[in-house]
Amino acid sequence: MRIHASVAALREARAPVGRVAFVPTMGNLHDGHIALVRAACQHADTVIASVFVNRLQFGQGEDFDKYPRTFEADCEKLAAAGADHLFAPDEAQMYPQPQRYCVEPDPEHASILEGAFRPGHFRGVATVVLKLFNIVRPDIAIFGKKDYQQVMVLKNMVRELALPIEIIALDTIRAADGLAQSSRNGYLSAEERAEAPRLYQQLSAVAEAVRNGAHDFTRLETVALAELERHGWKPDYLTVRRRADLQTPKEPGEPLVTLAAARLGTTRLIDNVEI
Ligand code: PAJ
Repeated sequence: MRIHASVAALREARAPVGRVAFVPTMGNLHDGHIALVRAACQHADTVIASVFVNRLQFGQGEDFDKYPRTFEADCEKLAAAGADHLFAPDEAQMYPQPQRYCVEPDPEHASILEGAFRPGHFRGVATVVLKLFNIVRPDIAIFGKKDYQQVMVLKNMVRELALPIEIIALDTIRAADGLAQSSRNGYLSAEERAEAPRLYQQLSAVAEAVRNGAHDFTRLETVALAELERHGWKPDYLTVRRRADLQTPKEPGEPLVTLAAARLGTTRLIDNVEI
C-alpha cells in the first residue's frame, strides 16, 4: 500500500484505468471500517482509503481534539485488508485556507435526528466528502449503514449534484454482544462497555415489535427510551422513521428503520436497525 500525504501525490498515483473504489474514514480503524475496505476490493481494480479527522463536522465542545488517532495501526490494517493507496492529508493540505464554499444539504435531511443534536454536522460531512471525491475521483464509494443518516445525505448529494459516483452502503459490523463497532467505543469504561449493547437490544426490540404488526410507534419509542434511562443512559432520540428520507412514516408498507442516539456517561453512541 502506498501512502500519500498531498493532493498532488494522490492525483499522480491514482490508477489511470480500471474502476476505483474509495473508502473515506477518520481513522482509528476497527472491523467495521475493514469490512468496507474488503468490500471495496470486490468491487474495483484499485482501492483507495482515506484517513482524515475532519474538523468541519465536529461541533463546539465535541470530541475533535480527543478523537483517537492511531495512524501506524491504521496503515497496517488497511494494507492487510487490501487497500492499494491511503490518502492521509493533514489539515493544511485539506484546508489550506478556511473552507468558505460548503455543501449545504437539504435541511429536511440534515437538521433532523443527528443534525438536530449536532448542528452543521452534515454540512461538514458533505463538504469534506465532496472534496475527497474531487481529489480521489472514485467510481464507487463505500459507506457503512452504522451512520444511516450520513448515507442518506450523501446519496442525495450525489444524485442532486449529478456526481458520477455509485454509493454502496454496507451493513453494520457488530461485536459478539451486538454493540456496533465504533471508534467511540474506546471511550467507554469497562462497566459502560458491559451496558452498551442495550442500545442495540432496545432498537432490535422495537424493530421486532413493528415487524410483528405493532403500529403505535410512539408507545414503542417511549418504552424503549424509558428502559435506556432506567439503566443510566441519556437518550437524544430513539425513533421509527421511513428509510428513504428519515421522515416520520406516513403510508403503511413504507420500508422503515429505527434509529437512536444516547449518551452513556460522557460517550455518545448511535445505532440503528432496519425493520
Ligand atoms: P468514520 O466514523 O471513521 O467512518 C468511516 C466509515 O466507516 C463510514 O462510512 C461509517 O459509516 C463506517 N462505519 C463505522 N462503523 C461501522 C460499523 N460498525 N460497521 C460498518 N461500517 C461502519 O463516517 C465518517 O468516518 C466520516 O463522517 C467521513 C465519512 C469519513 C467524513 O469525514
